[in-house]
Amino acid sequence: MNDSASQRRHLVELLTRDGVLTSPRLRDAVEAVPRELFLHPGVFLDEGGVWRPITPDGTSPSGWLEIAYRYDTLTTQLDGHLTAEQVREPVRGVPTSSSTMPSTVVGMIEHLDVEAGGRVLEIGTGTGYSAALMCHLLGADNVTTVEVDPGVAARADAALETLGFSAWTVTGDGLLGYPSNAPYDRVIATCAVRRIPYTWVRQTRSGGIVLATLGSWPYGTGLARVVVGDDDGAEGRIIGRSSFMQARAQAVVPVAGDLSARTAYADSVREAKVPPACLDDWMPAFLAQLAAPGAQLVRATRSDGTRLLFLFDQERESFAQFTPRDGGWQVRQGGPTALWDTVEEALLAWQAAGRPDIDAVRLRITARTHTYWIAGSSSLRWEHRLV
Ligand SMILES: C[S@@+](CC[C@H](N)C(=O)[O-])C[C@H]1O[C@@H](n2cnc3c(N)ncnc32)[C@H](O)[C@@H]1O
Repeated sequence: MNDSASQRRHLVELLTRDGVLTSPRLRDAVEAVPRELFLHPGVFLDEGGVWRPITPDGTSPSGWLEIAYRYDTLTTQLDGHLTAEQVREPVRGVPTSSSTMPSTVVGMIEHLDVEAGGRVLEIGTGTGYSAALMCHLLGADNVTTVEVDPGVAARADAALETLGFSAWTVTGDGLLGYPSNAPYDRVIATCAVRRIPYTWVRQTRSGGIVLATLGSWPYGTGLARVVVGDDDGAEGRIIGRSSFMQARAQAVVPVAGDLSARTAYADSVREAKVPPACLDDWMPAFLAQLAAPGAQLVRATRSDGTRLLFLFDQERESFAQFTPRDGGWQVRQGGPTALWDTVEEALLAWQAAGRPDIDAVRLRITARTHTYWIAGSSSLRWEHRLV
């Protein structure tokens, strides 16, 4: 398989085998759009803590195609500026743009359930590959795609033009949508958001769909699919696990500095009823974010080797500190929000409800309130008010 067309046919086979690709029109799009065109000037491959830069110039044509069609996410930018042709040796860094794993983008486009001629707003153009698939599906004039990074946006625009797709490529903060082309039939976000901006709902016609990954942790995030109603609100559910890099304007500020100073003043100390280590699991982590939006899980090791676990809400100056004790966990909490009380209550109610998975979570969005719930338990309901 050393030519692009065979690689694309193979990609179609994999996506079909995995039950991700079902619609014939989208299959034609995957077969037609060369992923390698969207990877200039190169990619960074993860080598266990460092990123190896790979460019087409420094790789054989078949080697480059093999990389381009990996059934995986391909990182194209680190730390908001670095691209692969700028370095020769492996580097450290945080991915800030990528060509998302094909099964994720194709699966999301399937979930959009968009008719030919439907108008789509994409947030997070990235390489432009997903936009290209939608251009093939819907016609370029029906695709508006917003990218916050000007360099990334320019490269995506050039790649789209190579294929003759003159989509509406916009450089700006996608959290604002793009009112000039509204209303849209569908909004799709290929970056994660803490909550779906109401402006996306506003820019979507009644009956239209908004699809976005919710959450701010690196895991424990869910793909929300909501349908916009006649009453200016939108309602739907989490349809599965999903993981994306965070929208830049909402990127989490890592908890830094002296953790013992942050936790110096506790208002309460008690035994935890639920082991906080369960927050390593996807659904408990998602619930924690619903119950205590703004809380971050932080791990640290003391100089004597003791492992520590914390929840911090920097905005609310609140913390929960966990220490292993007698086979259980002691929790010290401080600040105006008792973070662990709130999260633990949600976890206990979730356990009592039989540990439903993430797709049991429903949500309703209005201009003032985002409500999340799991049917059957009044304790599994969270209202995030904006006013
Ligand atoms: C995972 S990549 C997108 C993948 C892309 N759809 C593809 O198929 O290649 C996420 C992109 O979202 C962009 N992004 C982050 N925050 C954004 C924001 N507030 N508005 C628009 N784009 C944003 C990033 O710069 C990055 O390029």
